[in-house]
Amino acid sequence: MQLFLDTANLDEIQEIAAWGVLDGITTNPSLVVKEKRDFKKLVQEICKIVSGPVSAECVSEDLEGMLKEGRDIATWAENVVVKVPLTPAGLGACKQMSKDGIKVNVTLCFSVNQALLAARAGAYFVSPFVGRLDDINQDGSDLVSQIAEMYHIQALDTQVLAASIRTPMHVQQAALGGADACTMPFKVFKQLVSHPLTDAGLEKFLADWKSAKAAV
Ligand code: E4P
Repeated sequence: MQLFLDTANLDEIQEIAAWGVLDGITTNPSLVVKEKRDFKKLVQEICKIVSGPVSAECVSEDLEGMLKEGRDIATWAENVVVKVPLTPAGLGACKQMSKDGIKVNVTLCFSVNQALLAARAGAYFVSPFVGRLDDINQDGSDLVSQIAEMYHIQALDTQVLAASIRTPMHVQQAALGGADACTMPFKVFKQLVSHPLTDAGLEKFLADWKSAKAAV
């Protein structure tokens, strides 16, 4: 499963990129406005730091506007992926852009049937939102594994990108459920590496090493 950061913050991206395990980035309009930067320049900077897919979202709601916007976004960098919402206009835009070879991430997916539509529209990624389903007492992780299973049964190529991740447990469940990628906030990415036994073990190894050196 590819590991993506869900952020538009360059410091966060640089910090995790240095670990060597960052496969891509997802942004959304809410994350972009927090950075108070020009959208295009920000996405282009992100695309220079990370060579994998970087999703940038359209804000138009109608088909024509989305196509115009999406086709422009697609020229910003080689690794940019155009993000559209799972609406009738989003599906139409996805179909047309995919035909032209543009990679599209269909976002705000909350059901297996929506994921089927996204795949039939040629989506490169579909983004089921795990945390937002959990928020309304539905199992978001279950949805991820159901979509992965349905794509397998139907031999559909669209990649499942688990999104709206709130906890390390969501990441683990996405990986075990067959997601192709998982995008998570900086805080959750950092939680993945931490374990108290790793810290305690390292502390002991280094203390033993130092005391042995001191005795020589
Ligand atoms: C996905 O691409 C979205 O940016 C994202 O994961 C939304 O997550 P949230 O529900 O935490 O806002």
